[in-house]
Amino acid sequence: MKQFVVAMLIMALAISVVSGKEAKKVKNRFLSERVVVTCDKYPNVCDIKGSAGSDCCMKKCVNLSTDGSNCGKCGKKCSYGKICCQGKCVNPKSNQKHCGKCDNKCNAQSSCIYGMCSYA
Ligand SMILES: *[C@@H]1O[C@H](CO)[C@@H](O)[C@H](O)[C@H]1NC(C)=O
Repeated sequence: MKQFVVAMLIMALAISVVSGKEAKKVKNRFLSERVVVTCDKYPNVCDIKGSAGSDCCMKKCVNLSTDGSNCGKCGKKCSYGKICCQGKCVNPKSNQKHCGKCDNKCNAQSSCIYGMCSYA
């Protein structure tokens, strides 16, 4: 049953690539299906290619390692100016391992200043 539902979703996704009126109809059908097929009931809907992530929070697929509203766990929101890297809220302006963006590591000779690895 689960596999069937996932297959249907994949089909709906594939068909929605088609442009024009038909695509709009399919999209509406797809959206209405999404109301029924939520990840709290069917966790594998989040494993579909193109899904925002494989984790499920509040019936939505998310990536807990990068989602600023669900960072590390559901509902954990990063405060203003911080981003979510590997499930932790970090300040990309000054974080030595996530400088400017996730996984941009400054080497030992440089410091993360205003989001850039700077030699000073
Ligand atoms: C979640 O984000 C991390 C870091 O960008 C990435 O490596 C991983 O593949 C993502 N997971 C999913 C399921 O998209």
